[in-house]
Parts: sequence; structure tokens; C-alpha cells
Amino acid sequence: MNKWGKLSLGMLLTVGLMTGCGQNKDENTTAATGEATASPTAKTLTLGTSADFPPYEFHKVVDGKDTIVGFDIDIAKDIAADMGAELVVKDLPFDSLLNELSSGRIDMVISGLSPTEERKKAVDLSDIYYKAEQAVVVREADKDKFSNIDALKGAKIGIQTGSIQEDIAKGIEGAQLTSLSKISEIVLQLQSNRVDASIMEGPVAKSFVKNVPGLVITDAALEVEDDGYVVGIKKGNTELLDQVNKTLKRLQSEGKIDEYVAAASKLADGE
Ligand code: ARG
Repeated sequence: MNKWGKLSLGMLLTVGLMTGCGQNKDENTTAATGEATASPTAKTLTLGTSADFPPYEFHKVVDGKDTIVGFDIDIAKDIAADMGAELVVKDLPFDSLLNELSSGRIDMVISGLSPTEERKKAVDLSDIYYKAEQAVVVREADKDKFSNIDALKGAKIGIQTGSIQEDIAKGIEGAQLTSLSKISEIVLQLQSNRVDASIMEGPVAKSFVKNVPGLVITDAALEVEDDGYVVGIKKGNTELLDQVNKTLKRLQSEGKIDEYVAAASKLADGE
């Protein structure tokens, strides 16, 4: 049995509370290194992310300290290192990230962000650094019932506020949507029969079903146009955009992104 194997409803609730459910934003501000070393002259690079998304970004106790980890965070660390800057990580509700970026409170968004046309208008987006499919997560007993997308018509679906999954679900005939700020809250809703299905990125779905008893991924296949993930940067900040693309290119050519994904998946599963 892995580390999350016996994760109960109560524990999930505690995790939800501990991570603040999107409130008390500043309390969630964490330096990636775990050390809040702010020398006044040091250049900082502030990352905004919604750390509810294993293996991309999630909370983990490292050396006794609550730390935000994941492959998006590894990528952010490389970007900061290539710039000679200190990385500061802010945990924010997913649907607030692009506004925070436009108002300059954060420098970049790395948060499993999909490149939609609407987002392209609001902020600048980097090259794609990784791709994944969408998955439908349900309770074990409902696996066959939701084996195709048509079966989701009229279903109660839980999705993250402001995500592309929200748009996908809005397109499903008669679906009754529950939009929540954190993926862990959607998982709770599934466990307690308040929603019947959720749509999420495949790697995130895999991580949750592996660690939360009673949930499975169905065979339903979803086609999504905006596949792939990008880094968001404030409109017009071409200097940072170029730097980000340069680091992404380096990481890709060195095979580092796949390495980071593998390591973060293990970490999310408590291995
Ligand atoms: N890829 C989806 C989107 O861009 C979901 C991303 C959610 N990310 C997160 N860290 N919770 O809308």
C-alpha cells in the first residue's frame, strides 16, 4: 500500500484546509528552496501556480517543511537559475493566475496551463513544453456507466474553476456543473456522491486514482484542441518570454522534462 493509500475523507479535508483552499494567499507564499532568503539586491523571479495538481505542482512535506514541488516547479527553478534569479513560488487559485500576471504581482505562470485563444489575447504564452491527454475520473462502481463521452450527458460533473475542463464540461449536453477552486475539493465531491464524474489532465487523474481509494479513470476518450502546456508571461515582456523559451528548449534537448515528470510522479505517489 503506498503512502496515500489510506487517505481518508478527513485527511483530504485536512489537506484542503492546510493548503488554504485558495484563501489567505500570502500564507501560501513559499520560496522554492524552502528558505526565504531575500537579500535586497538579489533579482527575484516570482512564479504563480495553483499547487493542487500532482505531479505538476503540489504540496509535500520535505525535511519537515511544507514545500511546493512538481515538474512545473523544477522547470521554474531552471528558468530562474538560467537568469541568475532567486525563485519565489506563490500558491494561488487557478482562476486568479492570469490576472495576477497582468497586474504584475507575479512574473510568470507555470501551472499546467493550456494555450487557449482567449488566454493568448490576455497574456503572452511560451512554446509548448509538455503534452498530455484528458481523462474522466469516476467512482469505481460507475466505471462502465461512463465508458464513453455520450454517457456524460446530463451527468453531475466536477471541474476546476477557470480551467479548460470547465469549457469542455459546458459543452456536454445537460451536464450539471460544480466548479471548484481546487482539484482536491472535486475529489471529495466525487467520494461523497455529490458529483459523478470529473474531467482532468491524464497525469493528474492517474496521481489521484492511485492515491485515493474508490476512484478510477474510465475508457472515455476526450479530444481537446488546446493540448500541451505553456508558460504564461505578462503581455509585452518579450525579454522574459525569450528567456523562458530558451530554457525550455535547453531542457527539452537535454531530456530533462521527461526526467522531471518521472521524478515528480514518484514523489506524488510517495515513492
Ligand atoms: N490544463 C488546464 C487548463 O489550463 C488545467 C490546469 C489546472 N492547473 C492547476 N495547477 N490546477 O485550464
